[in-house]
Amino acid sequence: MAMTVNPLSPVLGAEVTGLDLSRPLGENLFGEVRQSWLEAGGLLVFPGQSLNTAQHIEFSSRFGPLFGAPGETPLQETVSRYLHPDHPEIYRVSNQVKDGEPLGRARAGTYWHSDVSFKERPAAASILHAIEVPAAGGDTLFANMTAAYEALSEAMKEMLAPLSAVHDFAQTAATQFAEPIVVENDLKGANRAVHPVVRTHPETGRKGLYVNPGMTVRLEGFEAGESEALLGFLFGHATQHRFIYRHRWRQGDVVIWDNRSLIHYAVCDYGDRPRYMERTTGIGDRPV
Ligand code: SIN
Repeated sequence: MAMTVNPLSPVLGAEVTGLDLSRPLGENLFGEVRQSWLEAGGLLVFPGQSLNTAQHIEFSSRFGPLFGAPGETPLQETVSRYLHPDHPEIYRVSNQVKDGEPLGRARAGTYWHSDVSFKERPAAASILHAIEVPAAGGDTLFANMTAAYEALSEAMKEMLAPLSAVHDFAQTAATQFAEPIVVENDLKGANRAVHPVVRTHPETGRKGLYVNPGMTVRLEGFEAGESEALLGFLFGHATQHRFIYRHRWRQGDVVIWDNRSLIHYAVCDYGDRPRYMERTTGIGDRPV
């Protein structure tokens, strides 16, 4: 069966059928997947996949090094209890508890963010495999930060061009974590980074906003009130409906998104109906 790619929304995302990700993809086919991903604004959905953990890691590794892989940077220590015990590349998201132990992080990412933007080299591709999904609810929203940037006035683009922002896990921990089980080490330097407010995508060469409400603390060189006002404007601007694709999960979906050009928000509206997902997180370049 040939690979087909169909757009999911006018602003971003495409669905890919005709591929079985549990089998290794040849170089040419993988090149087509990668190209489609970039052309779709950084989000592809592969429905009906059945991947074991090793296959998930193998497919993900084609996009670059992974957080938690041997010899690579781990994710922040706070989430280490949610990693797969044998495969630290896999971060588990779940609202279920078994034998008193959480199966994964509950309410993970229930705020707008770009994965681990507080690292010097934040995430590139994240690949989430839906293993159990509620019959209703639990969607994930994705906002296209390239489109949001391009829709700004030339005057605003000029003002933003030289600016940098501080991204800090301490803010995420303080404001977004429902249960504040945070490892003290995570509140120190390795989880704080300064990045340009407008970054150039290393593969497409397109510019996009690189700030997010969950992890971006302040703009460098501005008074607190000024920074809050300008960041508040950018967050509100980027998360308008016209820049968003909303993904309704089906069991077996594999979704790959590009944290260099998108922010995302997991909607926590499914109560205790089981939702279980496994994610790999690719290590990206230092934003420029
Ligand atoms: C995340 O990676 O932020 C979680 C996404 C989700 O559970 O939908």
